[in-house]
Amino acid sequence: MTKVITYGTFDLFHQGHLNLLERAKKLGDYLIVGVTTEHFDEARGKINVVDSCLERIENVRKTGLADEIIIEDHNGQKIEDIQKYNIDIFTVGSDWVGTFDYLNTLCKVVYLDRTPDISSTMLRSSQFQIVKVGIVGTGRIAARFIAEIKYISGMNTICAFNPETNSGNTFQKRYGIHTYSENYNKFLARVDAVYIASPNETHYEYAKAALEAGRHVLCENPIALNRKNAVELFTLAAKQNLVLLEGIKTAYCPGFQQLINTARSGKIGEIRDIEACFTRLADPQARECTDFRFGGAFLEYAAYTLLPVFKLFGTNCKDVQIHSIHREDGLDLYTKIDLLYDRGMATAKCGVGIKTEGQLVISGDTGYILAESPWWLTKKYKLRYEDPNKVETFEPTFQGDGLRYEMSEFVAQINKIEKNKYLLTQNEIIAMSEITELFMNEREKRSLS
Ligand code: CTP
Repeated sequence: MTKVITYGTFDLFHQGHLNLLERAKKLGDYLIVGVTTEHFDEARGKINVVDSCLERIENVRKTGLADEIIIEDHNGQKIEDIQKYNIDIFTVGSDWVGTFDYLNTLCKVVYLDRTPDISSTMLRSSQFQIVKVGIVGTGRIAARFIAEIKYISGMNTICAFNPETNSGNTFQKRYGIHTYSENYNKFLARVDAVYIASPNETHYEYAKAALEAGRHVLCENPIALNRKNAVELFTLAAKQNLVLLEGIKTAYCPGFQQLINTARSGKIGEIRDIEACFTRLADPQARECTDFRFGGAFLEYAAYTLLPVFKLFGTNCKDVQIHSIHREDGLDLYTKIDLLYDRGMATAKCGVGIKTEGQLVISGDTGYILAESPWWLTKKYKLRYEDPNKVETFEPTFQGDGLRYEMSEFVAQINKIEKNKYLLTQNEIIAMSEITELFMNEREKRSLS
């Protein structure tokens, strides 16, 4: 009996997949089809697959061509499978020519002609609207957005906006993206969605005008500096049936979700204390250091440090105390937020002018989770217990600089896939805006005294 094996994602099952399976089947007597898991695709950088793993398996099953279906979930698995299943022929489409020649020592490798003019990527783009995005603000974060958007099918940067003509022109020259400097409405007229990466105090106004003009909004944090404005933006988005997402990139990173779920799983018992710390000594010329009204540690990093607290303890805290170490002009170099809950307590610390270990420690009554800096990207975390020899280490996948995950979520929500709406909830964002309001009121009081 000749055994054949092939692998694929088989997203939005199409004629190209069917042809490939038919030809693969004809190569032998028994066909095994490996279907990728979501995590494996994520790890390979394929982050906007539409169908779930089960749906994709079901579509392969329905062809009646596979004698056996297995799932593919890690690198190197092909070598294991070929040996485990006694495979004679490994086959894939001709888009992979050369890639799997290394398997020749184990079995015969056959590249089958790919069916022209069809792919899952094409279907994803035609089935779903290609979202035309305009970037508001052309600083450091905008440049990162441009670098990451390449990895997201279904989203294109069309233009940018920056009222400062010089910065706008530099950006336009550097990236070849038309940059408006005067008419925000003219800019809005060209796009379906905006990514707001302008200075903190302008987020709310830009977001509001974009929503009023019927544009979806992905806004860097903080989305608003007080509760009222945050609620207003969400009410407006709901009324207009638009997506409003806040860009706290940690929330969308797969590793962070895994860490939170590990904490919730009971592995460290009941969670009683959380300490989240994010400090980065900033360039003295950077906005976070020069703008004493809307720069500083809190506005730069508090959202990241509050995120794990809200995820694990919820948004209803009994008490919040904020303490800062200020520079002479009032800018907070270091800020500590203490939160008290019925179940436990938490400290969120952030700094731009004081350096400390940037770690996340989640303490339970049987053990703790330690994620070292940069835990906000969550590439690694450990479970530790009283017994120092008992340590479990997790190393989740992480691609690029993390922005692509929030972009992928944004485009998915625009296309109404909405599969991850729990990643950062409206409730959590509004709760953050309340704490931001507390902080801003303190700042105001200090500047008056
Ligand atoms: N395939 C093919 N002809 C096509 C598309 C895919 O023969 N027009 C083959 C691939 O070469 C692979 C298998 O089908 O062996 C599964 O491919 P998969 O990557 O799931 O499909 P694509 O349509 O290529 O997906 P994407 O656009 O997401 O890369």
